[in-house]
Amino acid sequence: MKRTVLVSGGAGYIGSHVSVELSQAGYDVIIADDMSNCDDTNYKGVCRITGKEIPFYRMDFCDMDAVSRLFASEKIDAVIHFAAFKAVGESVAEPLKYYRNNLCSFMNILQASRDAGGCNVLFSSSATVYGQASRLPVTEESPRLPATSPYGNTKQICEDMLRDSVAAYKGIKGISLRYFNPIGAHPSALIGELPRGVPNNLVPYITQTAIGKREVLSIFGNDYPTPDGTCLRDYIDIVDLAKAHVCTVSRMLGSGMEDDYEIFNIGTGRPVSVLELVKGFERVNGLKLNYRFAPRRPGDVTAIWADPSKAERAMGWKAERSLDETLASAWAWEKHLAANK
Ligand code: WQD
Repeated sequence: MKRTVLVSGGAGYIGSHVSVELSQAGYDVIIADDMSNCDDTNYKGVCRITGKEIPFYRMDFCDMDAVSRLFASEKIDAVIHFAAFKAVGESVAEPLKYYRNNLCSFMNILQASRDAGGCNVLFSSSATVYGQASRLPVTEESPRLPATSPYGNTKQICEDMLRDSVAAYKGIKGISLRYFNPIGAHPSALIGELPRGVPNNLVPYITQTAIGKREVLSIFGNDYPTPDGTCLRDYIDIVDLAKAHVCTVSRMLGSGMEDDYEIFNIGTGRPVSVLELVKGFERVNGLKLNYRFAPRRPGDVTAIWADPSKAERAMGWKAERSLDETLASAWAWEKHLAANK
């Protein structure tokens, strides 16, 4: 039986890669996006890679009428929610913008799921909910620490909204995936990360420096208590991460869930320092990056990486692409963008 998955925010970085993997795994995919933070590059890329005209709705998930209409007009078996703002710094400057958008949109999805008599809901959460954990790697049982930004707080609140809705409303099942640091691009180089303005995240900053769009990469802090003094993160390949969603949707649609609400870490289990990542990028792509050490960035945790074993045990998912392949794909994507300006 054909199953339909609605991907909110499906024209964005993670949503587009997930849409490709779902479609290639045989699901009917519907993309809905308000296009407030992207153009149609990734949507077109998804259609090209899959060879399908993926149904697209331009809509704002904060508009309950629009969400209700969509749920009434399509038979949706599962919904994956990506449509949210994600800039940590901006969320500190404009908290209400973040609370309004990120909470209302998800509330509307849960309401529509309830009104439809139930749905399977996958929420895109983040390792940010762990803060600076005292024990590493973090498991799903590690405590969530108070969020250090409104962005992080919306992730925690949305997790709780999903947990409570699953407990209260019959027919709703939910899974939150806590992503570590997604990086890289599809091997076709037809979809990838398209940051607007100056990138906040490390890998887009690296690729833009390498291509000459940015003059110099600042490495924020080299006096952390880590082997080389720079922060440690768990960088997860975007295609591996996208595949975790296929496993998750199949788990929700099947009968194997242990609980109607579950949480999984989506990472590699391998800590990599900022400096290692920079040097790896140089080596794999045969180039030199202009970088300098700069003061620590406020709000950064020293080190965080996943214990991803629960996802492997429960869903048979684990990260497979090597860091070298991922860093090569990030550079191929940046070059593709430059060539197609
Ligand atoms: C990684 C490391 C920086 C830029 C954030 C969110 C998280 C998730 C992913 C988003 C850190 C260092 C960075 C630069 C640098 N959500 N860095 N120079 O902060 O781990 O996670 O993004 O959508 O919820 O919190 O990712 O890529 O910004 O930083 O030295 O120009 O790279 O200090 O150590 P982060 P990041």
